[in-house]
Amino acid sequence: VKTIFFFTVFSVVVKSQLKPQVSMVPTFKLVYSGDTIILSCENSTGQVKWFLNQIIMKDKNQANKKLSIGAVSANNSGSYQCEDNGQKSDSFVITVREYLPPATLSIKSGEPVINIDGSVVLELLVEDNSLMGWCCWVYKGGKVRRIKLKKSLTIDHKELTFQPYKLSDNIAIYWCSDETDLRSTSLTIKTSDRIVRMMILPGPALLGETLSLRCVVSGTKRISHTIIYKEEKAIQDSSSSSYVINNVTESDEGKYSCQATFTRRDGGPQNTVNSTQQELIVSAPPMKAVLSAGMYCSCSSCPDDATYHWYYKLNNHQWITKETRQSFAGVMSAGIYACRAVWKDGRSARSNRINVLLITLGLIFLGVVLVIGAIVMYRKRRAGEGKPTTDILSHCVFLCAHTYMFV
Ligand SMILES: *[C@@H]1O[C@H](CO)[C@@H](O)[C@H](O)[C@H]1NC(C)=O
Ligand SMILES: *[C@@H]1O[C@H](CO)[C@@H](O)[C@H](O)[C@H]1NC(C)=O
Ligand SMILES: *[C@@H]1O[C@H](CO)[C@@H](O)[C@H](O)[C@H]1NC(C)=O
Ligand SMILES: *[C@@H]1O[C@H](CO)[C@@H](O)[C@H](O)[C@H]1NC(C)=O
Repeated sequence: VKTIFFFTVFSVVVKSQLKPQVSMVPTFKLVYSGDTIILSCENSTGQVKWFLNQIIMKDKNQANKKLSIGAVSANNSGSYQCEDNGQKSDSFVITVREYLPPATLSIKSGEPVINIDGSVVLELLVEDNSLMGWCCWVYKGGKVRRIKLKKSLTIDHKELTFQPYKLSDNIAIYWCSDETDLRSTSLTIKTSDRIVRMMILPGPALLGETLSLRCVVSGTKRISHTIIYKEEKAIQDSSSSSYVINNVTESDEGKYSCQATFTRRDGGPQNTVNSTQQELIVSAPPMKAVLSAGMYCSCSSCPDDATYHWYYKLNNHQWITKETRQSFAGVMSAGIYACRAVWKDGRSARSNRINVLLITLGLIFLGVVLVIGAIVMYRKRRAGEGKPTTDILSHCVFLCAHTYMFV
């Protein structure tokens, strides 16, 4: 009896002396702007305090042992520590890259908030190489699982779609990576047990963006009335089931929910149901390329070895990759153009867009003005009071050539 008693006391002493330790899931090698990460205070027993750069965090997300950071941005970079029973862990340093990872994972069909046991179809896209050697991952129910991709769909393909298993957990984080740890953006999918669901984004809302939050009812589009709530206060009460935010600002951050009044069939009984709350996180946009007149692409804060990719879109179809060089030099057809900087472990966000039809009209107009200007100057010069016009004339030749190319 004595021995057992002694042993128990001894083991309790050892346990209480274990130093807490910070760990992170998903175990990303690089953390990119927009990722969702969960920090955990291992070997802790009771109430945990979290510190960022030695300052105690008074975050509303702080839930004891686990600290969940949805959609990280540069603001979340720093040294994290947790404290348990007066013992502080070692520092866990997070450096958020202010750009996008090399590949994109997006929702091909489905919604960011789904029914329990529902599913989504995801699309993986790389910029340069093929998807050979890539596989995908899901973090759910506290575990990371591998999602195998069919080999025949990765070799010689730059994009592929796949449908992960149905989801019964509250939240799942999906991402894909290759053998050298290059990876895609991560996507957060949530489930809700209500038939009315508030649709937010699968990632952060970016400052300055325009976005639309929607109230959705499973199995019917017959929604006659919708109330949108932010932090349980009605902010829109109307027949429209979506809520548009023009120019996102930090004050738009918060928990949104909605109430829908709907019928399942014409003349059927009316139901009024509330959704659960969904959190909208606002963050600064990642580095962005700039497309300037003359079809020149630049990104001042991107690495020097970046290459520039051009994308083209006709009407509202998908973006098509056009060419890789800093100044667009291909044959142009009318449509919308954008560009971005791409380097080994990252990419900028896509640039502002240029509609080539508008440029063409603009240049024709400019060309006409300059030609008229040149004629006026020429006449003035003949009258013996003008200056040489070669400069203007050469501009006109340049512009006319472009106009020809655009048409
Ligand atoms: C302490 O944390 C480490 C790292 O997470 C873990 O491997 C170990 O099992 C933990 N020990 C106890 C007693 O919880
Ligand atoms: C829906 O939620 C709002 C805000 O929390 C509340 O005022 C309202 O009573 C709820 N309606 C129903 C039908 O539960
Ligand atoms: C968006 O809001 C910010 C801050 O209020 C303002 O500086 C900016 O000009 C706005 N942009 C647009 C396009 O309205
Ligand atoms: C980042 O933090 C600073 C200071 O706390 C704040 O002023 C700024 O608005 C934050 N930016 C974003 C995008 O959260």
